[in-house]
Amino acid sequence: MRTQVAIIGAGPAGLLLGQLLHREGIDAVILERRSADYVLGRIRAGVLESGTVDLIARAGCDQRLRQEGLPHDGVNLCFGGARHRIDLAGLTGGKQVTVYGQTEVTRDLMEARSAGGARTVYEAAGVHLEGFGGSRPVVHFLKGGIAQTLECDFIAGCDGFHGVCRQSVPERAIETFERVYPFGWLGLLADVPPVNEELIYVNHEDGFALCSMRSMTRSRYYLQCPADEKVEHWSDQRFWEALRARLDPEAAAALTTGPALEKSVARLRSFVAEPLRFGRLFLAGDAAHIVPPTGAKGLNLAASDIRYLSEALVEYFNGGSTAGLDAYSTKALARIWKAERFSWWMTSMLHRFPEVGRFGHKIQLAELEYLVSSEAASASLAENYVGLPY
Ligand code: FAD
Ligand code: DHB
Repeated sequence: MRTQVAIIGAGPAGLLLGQLLHREGIDAVILERRSADYVLGRIRAGVLESGTVDLIARAGCDQRLRQEGLPHDGVNLCFGGARHRIDLAGLTGGKQVTVYGQTEVTRDLMEARSAGGARTVYEAAGVHLEGFGGSRPVVHFLKGGIAQTLECDFIAGCDGFHGVCRQSVPERAIETFERVYPFGWLGLLADVPPVNEELIYVNHEDGFALCSMRSMTRSRYYLQCPADEKVEHWSDQRFWEALRARLDPEAAAALTTGPALEKSVARLRSFVAEPLRFGRLFLAGDAAHIVPPTGAKGLNLAASDIRYLSEALVEYFNGGSTAGLDAYSTKALARIWKAERFSWWMTSMLHRFPEVGRFGHKIQLAELEYLVSSEAASASLAENYVGLPY
C-alpha cells in the first residue's frame, strides 16, 4: 500500500486529521489497533471549545453537533458549600463552550470517513515505524495475521499516550516533562437529567467532584478517588451518596439518581514531549501530551494540534512549501504549555492533596474566593476555559 500520510490511531486526532486532508484531496490511510466499536465505547471528554467546533465544521462533520450539542454560557464553582457562577460569555465577548460527547464527535468523523471512501484499517496489530528519519518512511503492521506495509510521505502519530509512535523515537532526540497526581477520577454515566443546566466543579473536604452531562437526559459525574481505586468497590448507591455529600444543598436536593451505564477510573497526569517532529514523523494529541481532565482541555488540545498539522500538510502538498511543517512543533507547543498550565492550576485548586494539609486547603479557599470576587481573575479563568486563541 502507498499513501501520502499514514495516520496511526483513529481517536479524535487521527480521524479529524484524516477528514481535513481528505477534503483537500490529500490521501491518508488510518491504522487503528482496536475495532471501531471499541473506539466508540470509550467514554471520555464532553466539552468542546468554539475553536474545536469550528475545526469539526471545517471537516464537514458538524451537522449533528449543531443540532444536538448544548452551548453553555457559564460554568459553576462550588466551595464552602456555596455555588458561584462564572459568566463565560459575559467575560469573553460572547464566547461559549459546547457540551457534545467525544463518542459522538468520533462517530460523526468515522461516518464521514467511510461515506467518503477513505481507507481505515481497524485491528491493525504490531504497528512498527521505519525510515522516518529519511525520505521514505514505511509503516509495517499485521492485519488478520498477514504482514502488510504502508509506504508514505509522512507519518502522523495520533496514537494516544500508550501508542507506538512516541516510543519509536530515539531517546536522545526527545525530552519529556511529567507530573503524576496522587489521585484519580471515578466517572459515572447515567440516563438521568443533569443536576444543573451548567457544569459544576466542586472543591469539598471529601475531595473534588464534577457534575457534567451529555444531553438533557444523560448525566456524567466524576468524584476524586485514590489513584489505584477499584471500580468494583463502588456500587451505584455508594457513588450517588458520595456525590450528594459533596454538592451544595440546592444541588444535593435536585440530584436525580439512576443505574450507571458506565463507571470507570482515570488516573491524572500532566505530560509533554518535546519536540513534536522527528524528520517525517509528527506527534499530535495525547501521543504528545496529557493534561489532567480538570478544565476539559485534552480533546481540545488534540484538535488544535491537528489544526496546525493539517494546515501545514495542505500547504506542503498543495502549495509546495515546508514552512508550516517546519513551524509545527514550536507553534503547537506554545499553545500546549498554556493549556498544561491551566489544567494543572484548575487541578491544584479544586482537588484534595493529602500532603498540603490544612494550610494548603485554606490557600485553595482563598484562591477560589478571589477568583469569584475579582472580575480580572474570573476573566482569566473564562478566557482559558473557552479556549485561548490559535
Ligand atoms: P486517543 O483518543 O487516545 O486515540 C488514540 C488512538 O490510537 C486510540 O484509538 C488507540 O486505540 C490507538 N492506538 C494506540 N496505540 C496504537 C498502535 N500501536 N497502533 C495503532 N493504533 C493505536 N478532553 C477534553 O478536551 N474535554 C474533556 O471534557 C475531557 N474529559 C476527559 C475525561 C476523561 C475521564 C478522560 C480519560 C479524558 C478526558 N479528556 C477530555 C481527554 C480526551 O479524551 C483525550 O485528550 C483525547 O481522547 C485525545 O485524543 P487522541 O486522538 O489524541 O488520542
Ligand atoms: C467533562 C470532563 C471534564 O474533564 C471536564 O472538565 C468537564 C466535563 C465531561 O466528561 O463531561
